[in-house]
Amino acid sequence: MIDKVINFPAEPAGLYDPLRYMMQIGGKRIRPTLCLTAYGLYGKEPGPEVLAPAAALEVFHSFTLIHDDIMDRSPLRRGMPTVWKKWNEDTAILSGDVMLIEAYKLIVKAPAECRTAVLDLFSTTAEQVCEGQQFDMEFENKENVGMDEYSRMIGLKTAVLLACSAKMGGLLAGAPEAECEALYRYGYELGMAFQVADDYLDAYGDEKVFGKPIGGDIINGKKSWLTIRALEKTPDRAAFLQAFCRECSTQEERSRKILDVKAIYDRLGIAAQARAEVLRYSDRALEALTGIHADITPLRNFADRLIGRAK
Ligand code: IPE
Ligand code: IPE
Ligand code: MG
Ligand code: MG
Ligand code: MG
Repeated sequence: MIDKVINFPAEPAGLYDPLRYMMQIGGKRIRPTLCLTAYGLYGKEPGPEVLAPAAALEVFHSFTLIHDDIMDRSPLRRGMPTVWKKWNEDTAILSGDVMLIEAYKLIVKAPAECRTAVLDLFSTTAEQVCEGQQFDMEFENKENVGMDEYSRMIGLKTAVLLACSAKMGGLLAGAPEAECEALYRYGYELGMAFQVADDYLDAYGDEKVFGKPIGGDIINGKKSWLTIRALEKTPDRAAFLQAFCRECSTQEERSRKILDVKAIYDRLGIAAQARAEVLRYSDRALEALTGIHADITPLRNFADRLIGRAK
C-alpha cells in the first residue's frame, strides 16, 4: 500500500536507481505496517496524508540499510547484492544521503495538526539511530561490553524506530497523549525483541529465507546478544575470545570460525536463551498496551507475527 506513494525522481539514474532497487528487492515493510496498524486502532481509513509519513518510515529504514551494509561490509541484503556491492561505495553513500532527504519529503506531508509532533519524533529518532550505529561500531573493538550497554545500543539502533512507527500511527490518528506513549513503549519493546531475533537469525537462520549472509556478525566481531550472553556464561572467557577474535583471510577460515564460535554458543545453550529473551521482550511489549482503550488485537497479532520471524 505504501509503495504507491513513493515516487523517486528519474534522473540522474545513477543517483536514484539504487533507491528504486532497494525498495524493489523486498523488505518486510514492518515499520509502515506497524504505523498503519496503530493508526487503524482508532477506526479510520488511511488517506494519502497518512500513507506518506508511513512510507517515510520505510524509506528512512531502507536508507539506514544502504549505509549499514557499507559499515558492516555486507554483500547481501533482502537476498540480493547490497547497493555498495552492486554499484560502489560512493554511490551507496550519496544515494543513501538523498534517500534520507526523500524520507523527509514524505514525512512533511503529514496533516498540519500533527506535522510538528511527527517531524520532531522522526528527527529525534533518526538522530538516535545514528547514535546506536556509532555504539555498534565502537563495540566491535571493545572487549568488555555488558548486557546493559548492549541493550542501550540496540535500543538506539533498532528499537526507537519501531517505537517511533507505532507512536506515529497514534499521532496521525489524533490519539490521546498517554496512548501515544503506550504505543511508543510497545514499539520499543517489540524493537528490542526484533533485534535480539535478528542477532539470533544472523547465526542460526537460513540464508535463503533470511536474505543476509549467515555468520556475518561473527565474522565482523559484532557484539550481538549471543556474544554478550556467551561472555556472561562461559567458564572460559579466554577460549571464547580466542575463537571470536581470530583473524581470517580465506573463505575456508571464515567458515571454520563461524563453526567454532557457534559450537561454543551451542555448548552454552545460547540459542534457546536468545529465543527466551525475544519472548520476554514481546511480553513486555504487550504489557505496555494496558493503557490503550481501543481493541488491541491487531497489535497482539502484529507482535506474534514479528517474533515468529524467520526473515
Ligand atoms: C533489518 O531490518 C535491520 C534491523 C533492524 C535488524 P528488517 O529485518 O526489517 O529488514 P527488511 O526491511 O525486512 O529487509
Ligand atoms: C541494523 O543492525 C540497524 C540499522 C540498520 C540501523 P544490523 O547491522 O544487525 O542489521 P542487519 O543485520 O545488517 O540487517
Ligand atoms: Mg550494523
Ligand atoms: Mg548490518
Ligand atoms: Mg543483524
